[in-house]
Amino acid sequence: MSFRERVAEAAEERESNIVLALDFPYEKPENRQTLYKRAENIIDIVNPYVCAVKFNHHLILPLGIFNGVQKLLEKAHEKELPTIMDCKVNDIGSTNHVIAEYYYEAGFDALIANPFVGWEEGLKPVFEAAKNRNKGVILLAYMSHKGAGEGYGQIVVDAKSGHRTPQYIVFARKALEWGADGVVVGATYPEKIKEVYNVLAGKIPIYSPGVGVQGGEIESALKAGASYLIVGRAITLSENPAETAKRIRDIALSVK
Ligand code: XMP
Repeated sequence: MSFRERVAEAAEERESNIVLALDFPYEKPENRQTLYKRAENIIDIVNPYVCAVKFNHHLILPLGIFNGVQKLLEKAHEKELPTIMDCKVNDIGSTNHVIAEYYYEAGFDALIANPFVGWEEGLKPVFEAAKNRNKGVILLAYMSHKGAGEGYGQIVVDAKSGHRTPQYIVFARKALEWGADGVVVGATYPEKIKEVYNVLAGKIPIYSPGVGVQGGEIESALKAGASYLIVGRAITLSENPAETAKRIRDIALSVK
């Protein structure tokens, strides 16, 4: 089963299109050993309400990829949840290849990558590594934070058509051309989700972070065309993460 199919299956089984971002605030050395237990506990209690788990450097850096994080990946897989590494791969091809091999070998099912680096000697080796291991690659199109427009929103001359085009539209087209398994557009920019959705024409699912703490709204993101919502701190820092995840899942379910 492909990465896309695994996420779709988990989403259908749990009736949830919420991707859990397993993020925690910075911890001083004396408290770091608590991070593993906290992450494990969140997977245990939240897993019925989410369709995938996204990791970021928040856990890779303090726990290490082949130590704590690999065990958390096993835990997510035991619960039949696919896993995503939000490493925004963004370097020269040979380096990207090494990064991708380590993350896939550790057990990640998909990586997020930055199309700014291009294909040849850029992301091509990442897509090849993914293909060899039956894993996924998700591309950024428009990020969720306030400054996103400074890069992803620039008007550029599309190398193929010669037309002036927003950068994120060029990236959405590249996602189709390169065979990406997902495209990220911030929930904080529903109008951009809609534009990207129109380019992708339902061929690639849109993952949308930024709901909750960053101010993005569930309904507008989904109505604009997002398939999955990525939610982190609203769940992980909640007093009752399971209840919060269920509530967010239920609101998303109610959006027609
Ligand atoms: P919060 O706590 O804001 O966490 O719900 C969101 C998670 O998603 C990451 N993030 C992004 N990842 N493209 C990405 O690939 C984006 O535009 C983007 N915006 C937020 C963020 O780092 C955190 O892990």
